[in-house]
Amino acid sequence: MTSPDSQTEELDEKYRHTISIHGREYQKYSIDNEISFQPVDDDEADRLDLQHDVFNEVFDGRLIFPPIPQPRRVLDCGHGAGSWAVEVAEQYPRCEITGVDISPHMNSDGVPENLWFQVDDLNRPFTFPSNHFDLVHSRMMAAGINRSRWPSYIRDIKRVLKPGGWVQLVEIYFNVQSDNGSLTEKHALRKWSTQFMRSIGDVKDLRIGTRLRDLLLAAGMEEVESRMIPLPLSAWSSEAKIRDIGAANRESARQLLPALALYPLTQRLHMPHDQFQQLIDQAQKEASNLSLKAYFPLYVCIGRKPL
Ligand SMILES: C[S@@+](CC[C@H](N)C(=O)[O-])C[C@H]1O[C@@H](n2cnc3c(N)ncnc32)[C@H](O)[C@@H]1O
Repeated sequence: MTSPDSQTEELDEKYRHTISIHGREYQKYSIDNEISFQPVDDDEADRLDLQHDVFNEVFDGRLIFPPIPQPRRVLDCGHGAGSWAVEVAEQYPRCEITGVDISPHMNSDGVPENLWFQVDDLNRPFTFPSNHFDLVHSRMMAAGINRSRWPSYIRDIKRVLKPGGWVQLVEIYFNVQSDNGSLTEKHALRKWSTQFMRSIGDVKDLRIGTRLRDLLLAAGMEEVESRMIPLPLSAWSSEAKIRDIGAANRESARQLLPALALYPLTQRLHMPHDQFQQLIDQAQKEASNLSLKAYFPLYVCIGRKPL
C-alpha cells in the first residue's frame, strides 16, 4: 500500500478479472484467494449505497463517532462503493482520505480530490507508515478479514494510527435474532444464518462483532466503547426511531440475503441454485413479516491509541 503522496501505480491486471456465477459478477482474484465471496457488480455497489443510507439513519447522519474535531488523515479499510469515504471527504475538505479495497470494480467516478482509492489485500500486513492516521474506519469486513488475521489486523490499525488517534469498527452479527420467541430453527431466516455462517466459517469469523471490544483491549487500545444496536429487518417496532430504521432497512435487508449468501451457499456448500432461490424467497418474506420482529445485532466499537 502506498500513501496518497506517492506516485499512482498502474493497477495489476490480476485484480480486474471477474467471473460470473448465477448472474452475479465476482472478482476472480478474491475468489481464488478466499478473500471475499461477495459480488463486485453494479447491483452490489447499489446495495452498499443503500446500506450506507441505513447506517446514516441508525447513526443520525454521524459519519465519525469519536471526538476528532478536524481529522487530517483518515483510512477507510474495505471502502466498497465508497459512500462513507466520499461523504467524509466532502464533510472535511482539508482531510486526506485513503480507501483500500481488494476490488477496484465498485469505485465511484468523480470522487472528491481529497480522496484516494487503492487496491490491496487487508489480510496482508499494512505498509502504511506508523503514526500516520487520525482515524481508521473498518465497516462490514467480517466476511473479508480472515478469521486468524483479526488480532494482527487490529494491531496494524493501531500501528498506523497517530498517538491519540481513533479506530471505528462497525460489524453486523449475521445470526438473525428475535426477542419474542417467534423465530425458530424452522424459519428460513435462521437457516440462512446457520448456513451462511457455516459456509465460510472455516476462513472468516462472522461472530467478530461480539469480539471487537476484547480485540481492541487486547491490542492495548484505550477508551474502548462498544455498543450493540438491534438493526430491524422491517418496520416492526412500536418505537418510532427503530420503526423508521426498520422501514429504511427493509429493502437493504431484502438485498443483503441473496448478495452475501449466493456464492458461499451454492459454491462452497454446493446447494442447488433452485433450492437456494427458495430459501431466499422464504427468508425475504420472513424478513418483512412484522410479527417475527427480526433483527441483526449491529456492533459498533471505538478505541483510542494511547498518547
Ligand atoms: C460488505 S463490503 C463493505 C463496504 C464498506 N465498508 C461499507 O460499509 O459500505 C466489504 C468490502 O470489503 C472488501 N474486502 C473484503 N475483504 C477484503 C480484504 N481482505 N482486503 C481488502 N478489501 C476487502 C470487499 O471487496 C468489499 O468491497
